[in-house]
Amino acid sequence: MRVLVTGGAGYIGSHTVLQLLAAGHQAVIADDFSNAKPSVIDRLESLAGQSIPVYRVDLTDRAATTEMFAVERLDAVIHFAGFKAVGESVAKPLSYYQNNLDSTLSVLAAMDAHNVRTFVFSSSATVYGDNPVRERTEDMPTTATSPYGWTKVMSEQVLADLANADDRWRIAVLRYFNPVGAHPSGLIGEDPSGFPNNLMPFVAQVAVGRREKLSVFGDDYDTVDGTGVRDYIHVEDLAAGHIAALDRMRAVDDGWSAWNLGSGDGVSVLALVDSFARASAREIPYEIVPRRPGDAPAYWADASKANAELGWRTRKTLDEMCADSWRWQSQNPGGYPD
Ligand code: UFG
Repeated sequence: MRVLVTGGAGYIGSHTVLQLLAAGHQAVIADDFSNAKPSVIDRLESLAGQSIPVYRVDLTDRAATTEMFAVERLDAVIHFAGFKAVGESVAKPLSYYQNNLDSTLSVLAAMDAHNVRTFVFSSSATVYGDNPVRERTEDMPTTATSPYGWTKVMSEQVLADLANADDRWRIAVLRYFNPVGAHPSGLIGEDPSGFPNNLMPFVAQVAVGRREKLSVFGDDYDTVDGTGVRDYIHVEDLAAGHIAALDRMRAVDDGWSAWNLGSGDGVSVLALVDSFARASAREIPYEIVPRRPGDAPAYWADASKANAELGWRTRKTLDEMCADSWRWQSQNPGGYPD
């Protein structure tokens, strides 16, 4: 298949591009580079041993988006592009709704106009909101606790309505838990701009000496050691889930279907810190600070639907996630070159 990967220069997108190529597909990247450095492309091409077509495009620009479909003969789209910082979305809701919804609608309209109707959507476990049931299943009601989360819930609804209206569409909604880790080469990985919002990049920056210490947001939750529990998933396993979803859509017509991509295991903040300290052979200084507003105490995936229907499961352990994150961080202490 010739697959358009929007946000293909980003963290999860770049890892997925490599796996698409390794599986014998072709990949075309569309990215506006608002949260990715162009130097990632050189690394992708050298790892893949081939050149990769790249469009620098703002997907909210409908004319530019449609033009791409007129030039490329595409079979499917994996739509990663979008703003993703929860806190920023609370401060700038209009920007999040405008960017994330407009770009999704623009891509779908261009696809429809060019008879491309196989679509994989980057959704998030955030669509389960603060449901008290910690093990999340796909049939739980969706809701949100931030504008970012609402853009995922709303986009999922648009996709469900589309599949309902026109049975030529095949749509896979993939709900990611907490992606971490990096390509085993250490050449591509997560490169947050500015202050990292997420745990793993923050821990990695402490280990490499870019930050003094980690703030652990609360140690009084009802969890194994009082710290927050999440389902961390190696980005390589996550990328593989996208290939499995494309394979599923070629074989079976589900219309619209959602799958959790997670390991099924809950890991506490302190367990992750401990694993990272071993992987890096560095001490990770931390202090306990108050809870971060809006954080859920604990949740993880029930991944049995993806196991059964996609033939997919996670393979990599927490120690491998930390070892690969550390290799990326220690080989690229300042992230990608400008
Ligand atoms: N944490 C800290 N210190 C930090 C950062 C995080 O203690 O500096 C803790 C959090 O309190 C939480 C855990 O580490 O218990 C994980 O936090 P992250 O910020 O890494 O991830 P979240 O689970 O909060 O959010 C992630 C994605 C969101 C997505 C959400 C829902 O970043 O985009 O999962 O699945 F919406």
